[in-house]
Amino acid sequence: MRILGISGSLRRDSHNTKLLRAAEELLPPDVHLELYDELKSVPPYDEDDDTDDSPAAAVHLREAIETADAVLLATPEYNGSIPGQLKNAVDWASRPHRVSALWGKPAAVIGASTGMFGAVWAQAELRKVLKTAGARVVETEVAVGKADSRFDEDGALVDDDIREQLAETVELLLAETATSPRLVAA
Ligand SMILES: Cc1cc2nc3c(=O)[nH]c(=O)nc-3n(C[C@H](O)[C@H](O)[C@H](O)COP(=O)(O)O)c2cc1C
Repeated sequence: MRILGISGSLRRDSHNTKLLRAAEELLPPDVHLELYDELKSVPPYDEDDDTDDSPAAAVHLREAIETADAVLLATPEYNGSIPGQLKNAVDWASRPHRVSALWGKPAAVIGASTGMFGAVWAQAELRKVLKTAGARVVETEVAVGKADSRFDEDGALVDDDIREQLAETVELLLAETATSPRLVAA
């Protein structure tokens, strides 16, 4: 089984990317987490470009989501909301409506911010847009506040409470995937 991990941060030392790597360590042996690392190359969504000849990066994003059994998204919070590049990727992956890569796809949202609250507004908005796109979003949240104190110098998570919350989220996502009518062959 394959989960696609999408970090909403383009930053090299992103806390959100580290959070996805921490989630990867909690997966059962038969579940693989692949980190999607091409978010920066996805062009701005333009309906005029959304044709049979769509930009290669957008096609690749759609294929990566389509062929995954589930998606796990880690979002920072930018000005109380989702970073633009992540929302843009969701917009590409949400079309064509009802037959898109995200339609019916099991999804979970986690998030980290350097502020107190752990990107809870961004996570709520991301769950909303994913649901609007037709994804099957599990109702959980992992809010990693003060993110610059939660990882060691090697990027490993050092907070056991957060690890426990991550494990619960992963478990719920796998349970949702197990009930999926759109299971993708391994
Ligand atoms: C443009 C911008 C806006 C931000 N707005 C918020 C915000 O509204 N709330 C918050 O908690 N942190 C905010 N931050 C701080 C981010 O949470 C912090 O940079 C975080 O580490 C980004 O995630 P990353 O480490 O995965 O890149 C903002 C950062 C930037 C660059």
